[in-house]
Amino acid sequence: MGPQAGGGEEVTSERPAAGPAGATAPLVELDGVAKHYGNVKALDGVSMTVRAGEITCVLGDNGAGKSTLIKIIAGLHRHDAGTLRIAGEETVLGSPRQALDRGIATVYQDLAVVPLMPVWRNFFLGSEPTRGRGPFRRLDVAAMRETTHAALLRMGIDLRDVDQPIGTLSGGERQCVAIARAVHFGAKVLVLDEPTAALGVKQSGVVLKYVAAARDAGLGVVLITHNPHHAYLVGDHFVLLKRGVMAGSHAKEQISLEELTRQMAGGSELEQLSHELARAQGPGLPDGRGDGHREGPAAG
Ligand SMILES: Nc1ncnc2c1ncn2[C@@H]1O[C@H](COP(=O)(O)OP(=O)(O)OP(=O)(O)O)[C@@H](O)[C@H]1O
Ligand SMILES: [Mg+2]
Repeated sequence: MGPQAGGGEEVTSERPAAGPAGATAPLVELDGVAKHYGNVKALDGVSMTVRAGEITCVLGDNGAGKSTLIKIIAGLHRHDAGTLRIAGEETVLGSPRQALDRGIATVYQDLAVVPLMPVWRNFFLGSEPTRGRGPFRRLDVAAMRETTHAALLRMGIDLRDVDQPIGTLSGGERQCVAIARAVHFGAKVLVLDEPTAALGVKQSGVVLKYVAAARDAGLGVVLITHNPHHAYLVGDHFVLLKRGVMAGSHAKEQISLEELTRQMAGGSELEQLSHELARAQGPGLPDGRGDGHREGPAAG
């Protein structure tokens, strides 16, 4: 990325204006971020960069601090050490509304949808366009239906009927609607907490396709997952968390899927486990040597 010659013309209309820090400031930067819940240290010294047109994956086991991390970016929790910069500017987000106003849209795993309301109604929830004024003001239903259909179609989602209750869609389809919604309402950063966790292989693939489509639309995407295969399919950068601290940060070209999987699983811990399982299931256990000498503490 060479510096742009600052001659009078604008670079591209899609690039977010990044203020005086320059057009190259990442959308979001975390630097040495920490978060405690009482005396539980959920995060410590975590750093991460989110860039436009890239997917940053946050990987880690249960309790690693993934959700805590995105709640800080989403404005749900405040970090208590380190810095959060949005478009180059140091910030402490006070509420999800503030995050949204800065262009950060978060799709939680338990999607905030109203199951009995039609798809289009959920698509516009909280941002409904109206017609008329004063006592004649009413929802512009036709426009909402049409826009929802068009916005979904632009993402390649051809929903037969936007009037069906969103509760009748599959989990994967609901995730896709949520992604299309964030793109439609102009989010710059899309944060997804385990969007494929409850999905089968095929539906996971579909959701990942729309995650990639959001990236191609120029958004910076943060994808939380504990599935290295899903991460590796779409990710540009991988941040590994382990019990609240960073266990690695790699660009895709620096790491293979095998190595990512190994690091995720905690290489030696997995070897120890396979050792133990092999022993437990061993054919016949000839000389009764069950668990002779175990080496080293099982660290937590
Ligand atoms: N509101 C809270 N109050 C107290 N402790 C919390 C709270 N939220 C999370 N924790 C603790 O912080 C640590 C990190 O939790 P977090 O939910 O961020 O993990 P995670 O990586 O998202 O896990 P999972 O894969 O299970 O979703 C855990 O030890 C958890 O018990
Ligand atoms: Mg979580």
